[in-house]
Amino acid sequence: MNYHRFDCIIVGAGGAGMMAALESSKHVGTAVVSKLYPTRSHTGAAQGGIAAALSNLEDDSWENHAYDTIKGGDFLVDQTAAEILCREAVECIYDLEHMGLPFDRTADGRISQRRFGGHTKPNPIYDPAAPPGTEAAKPRIPVMRACHAADRTGHMILQTLYQQCIKQGVTFFDEYHMLDLIMEDGECRGIVAIEIATGELHTFHAKSVLLATGGFGRMFKVSSNAFALTGDGPAIAYRHGLPLEDMEFYQFHPTGIYRLGILLSEACRGDGGVMFNGKGERFMEVYAPNLKDLASRDVCSRSIYQEVRAGRGVGGKDFVYLDIRAETINKYKTSPTGGTVDSAWVEKRLPDIIDFARTYLGVDPIKEPMPIQPTAHYAMGGIPTNVHGQVLRDSAGTVVPGLFSAGESACVSVHGGNRLGTNSLVDLVVFGRRAGRSMAQHALNRQFEPLPPNPQAPTAAAVEALLARPRGEPWVRIRDEMQQTMMDDCGVYRTAETLTRARDKIAALKVRYASVGVADKGSVFNTGLLEVLELGCLLDLAEATVACALARKESRGGHSREDFPDRDDANFFKHSLVYSAGASETRVEYKDVDVIMVEKNGEMVTKYPLEIRKY
Ligand code: FUM
Repeated sequence: MNYHRFDCIIVGAGGAGMMAALESSKHVGTAVVSKLYPTRSHTGAAQGGIAAALSNLEDDSWENHAYDTIKGGDFLVDQTAAEILCREAVECIYDLEHMGLPFDRTADGRISQRRFGGHTKPNPIYDPAAPPGTEAAKPRIPVMRACHAADRTGHMILQTLYQQCIKQGVTFFDEYHMLDLIMEDGECRGIVAIEIATGELHTFHAKSVLLATGGFGRMFKVSSNAFALTGDGPAIAYRHGLPLEDMEFYQFHPTGIYRLGILLSEACRGDGGVMFNGKGERFMEVYAPNLKDLASRDVCSRSIYQEVRAGRGVGGKDFVYLDIRAETINKYKTSPTGGTVDSAWVEKRLPDIIDFARTYLGVDPIKEPMPIQPTAHYAMGGIPTNVHGQVLRDSAGTVVPGLFSAGESACVSVHGGNRLGTNSLVDLVVFGRRAGRSMAQHALNRQFEPLPPNPQAPTAAAVEALLARPRGEPWVRIRDEMQQTMMDDCGVYRTAETLTRARDKIAALKVRYASVGVADKGSVFNTGLLEVLELGCLLDLAEATVACALARKESRGGHSREDFPDRDDANFFKHSLVYSAGASETRVEYKDVDVIMVEKNGEMVTKYPLEIRKY
């Protein structure tokens, strides 16, 4: 048996995993197990920025950031966690800067910041009596809060963290794919992974295991997510009887490349870009009169769908335009300073976006607008954790000893019903670092507990059975049907009818999946085998997502039920927890949202009162 022993095993080499590794390896032996070469992790695809209230270009505060985060999440955010996120963001950015992250700079050498949707500050000239549509009538105005390295911020974070991990002696097992957790007596004692180059199984014995495997956008047909984003961590946790939290909240980013889904950063709009419908109208003026194109993502994505449904897509089709031409930014006075910009400025701020549009669309965004549609982008839900990254097994907050999660695979919950752009990168550095600390602490306080006899046996049997099966139905057919179903019936808009259809379809696909085989029976780089296993994860997560969406009979954040169009705080101001209950059966429970209470005039009141979300 291939056996390895480390105090801390981290699964996933994205921003959360490597931030945790940097922290835990200061104190205890740490290894990172990743199915990808680390710098290929999906954090590298995050483009426009990482939020922190540095006040480098205008006055800001972490309190502003926390308010925006809670409102952006349609109040389903856990408020203590949100305050931690926004306070610790500032320190984390300076840590990254000191590690060598090449941020863009202001004229006087500070970290440059740009605007992003839903990030605001109070309007100093706000007057509730001002005529609608005037500047004074806006209670809040956009603020430059997203620290950035052009439009390659995630890429730079990944390179910086990897260099630091190597410098600090973290051990990496690259291209090792986790297939199972080793759970014994209710606690986690390690993982089983397959070495992709050889097909051999490896047992990793640990005191602390972190799941930082990223999201699962590949369950949808049009997605900004890399092919590797198949939710292995959450799916494996779910199969071990652990709950998944708030799975119904899946974010569609408004500006994906039409049909391909590749991300065109929200920084396009932060820097002044404008969306237009087929009639050339700036439609966000109707849906979000104050912030317009800088409204939150759920609002913008729904607005695009509304325009398309009303026949105002471009050429009557299912896309609209994103226009970042300097002449457009100047015409609408949408540059960050309100001043005039030229094409060279746009090229310098958004080099990758321009390159993507030229390469994938054959469109030159300096001269023409880009066809865009909402693209499945980010899971607000995931493995429930507390603010120390410890995985929780129930609504009472019982910790699973030895198991941690951070980043997109986790739900802490700082994004609630809808994440603000740039809050994912800050989530993974803040809570990755916290998880690394608590993993090390846990490891320092414990002995290695014994593994069960032959811990690889169940995984080996499952892999052998899959390889022994005749090829049967092509697995890609099942994947395509799942992606189409999730897109059509559990996408931006849902109803009981579409969700019931999706639930039944996913259950039927799971039955068909059970007899799928793989063509390649070999052991060296058997990517067909891995793709089938990944599809199994996606099907389980699709099942969990649909179950929660069906159970939540309200509209909140990224979950829009056309049959329940209003937010229902009386019945659904709570997080969902979904458990697997055997063959395509699920059980959905709820737990309270964490709310901060403060004293006001001798009375205890909520610090962030529920309000109707308007932008
Ligand atoms: O639009 C973007 O650049 C994406 C950022 C994010 O998802 O936070």
